[in-house]
Amino acid sequence: MKDTAAPPKSFLSHKVAHFTESVIREMTRQAMLHGAVNLSQGFPDFPAPAEIKRAAQDAIAADINQYAITWGAKSLRDAIARKMQAWQGIAVDPEREITVCCGSTETIVSTLLAICNAGDEVVIFEPFYENYGPDAIISGAKPRFVKLRPPQMPNGEWTFDERELRAAFQHHTKAIVVNTPNNPTGKVFTRSELELIRDLCVEFNVLAITDEIYEHILYDGTRHLSIVTLEGMRERTITINGLSKTYGVTGWRVGWAVAPPAITDAIRKVHDFLTVGAPAPLQEAGAAALALPETYYKGLAEGYGKRRDRLIPVLTEAGFRCFLPRGAYYVMTDISGFGFANDIEFTKYMVEEIGVAVVPGSSFYNNARDGAQQVRFAFCKRDETLDEAAKRLRKLQARK
Ligand SMILES: Cc1ncc(COP(=O)(O)O)c(C=O)c1O
Repeated sequence: MKDTAAPPKSFLSHKVAHFTESVIREMTRQAMLHGAVNLSQGFPDFPAPAEIKRAAQDAIAADINQYAITWGAKSLRDAIARKMQAWQGIAVDPEREITVCCGSTETIVSTLLAICNAGDEVVIFEPFYENYGPDAIISGAKPRFVKLRPPQMPNGEWTFDERELRAAFQHHTKAIVVNTPNNPTGKVFTRSELELIRDLCVEFNVLAITDEIYEHILYDGTRHLSIVTLEGMRERTITINGLSKTYGVTGWRVGWAVAPPAITDAIRKVHDFLTVGAPAPLQEAGAAALALPETYYKGLAEGYGKRRDRLIPVLTEAGFRCFLPRGAYYVMTDISGFGFANDIEFTKYMVEEIGVAVVPGSSFYNNARDGAQQVRFAFCKRDETLDEAAKRLRKLQARK
């Protein structure tokens, strides 16, 4: 073979050069490998509601097995519009303002691809759900991170600095991602925080992309507010949601964006070329899910509230400092009491020696150092699973 002096050619995109595999998903694989109780990835280990499973079975039996309309089955788009009207008081045109995608994961990346140009920036609060950074990069934009600071007082709230947020808006900012209720912190953004974000969006002509996938999982009387309902935001908000968390069907892969017609038009085109469409029978089941009575959502929040209150005393007893979540189904914890060099070593010890899988805090930060003394627990699990974890965590207490 001819020896050439040219450097070896890389076949890989520069975009993926800095991506690591999802740590959250890796932790589920580690849990399976070590027979650990899996409190890492955010999926329920209990059954989904019987009526929506039946709706999915009926749809398949009725041969709804071919491509749905690219931007979503009419029945599901109509159901989304009805639910937005009932819960948010917003009138949405299902023909021109809704796009159904393969989970909110695809919805977010399709949205960013639809709105971002090279050189644009996307503001992201950190710690953040780990897809947002890569999503921004895939879409050609640069993520700019703004810190959420952990509460100093027991049962306090995560907060951000108004000046830091304002400063982040001044660099070709195209959009801000707002995830409320928030993964991993459990923060539920208040009206005044959302109004501040609204004011900046309006002043700097920036879009808000809101990930509201945990909208119904709320504790302590906290209320969810959609930024789209604030004056001045209807025309500059993309509201993202999905079936995964509210109905306990993370494997169905159905999510959606509600956005003004011109933005919807762009999202639909990206979505079409990426995936053509979300699973047709599961969209029909989604329409049935969105028609569940209000009592379903009450039961959902109460159930998760009980799980939160079951796990937190166990963690506190074992030596974790817990940041009390007001929404979503995770607890972020401080592990500095255990004397480990970092969260990765601690997580490895937990999965291999204690038998409980958790997510290292660093996977939620741009700079790994910032999460080096934090880990996240997911409590969307059966009582038996949480009790088994509690039993195993006693070994950790002994180590303190
Ligand atoms: C904040 C947030 N957004 C989106 C997702 C993924 O949602 P989906 O299953 O609809 O893709 C998750 C899953 O954990 C999440 O925590």
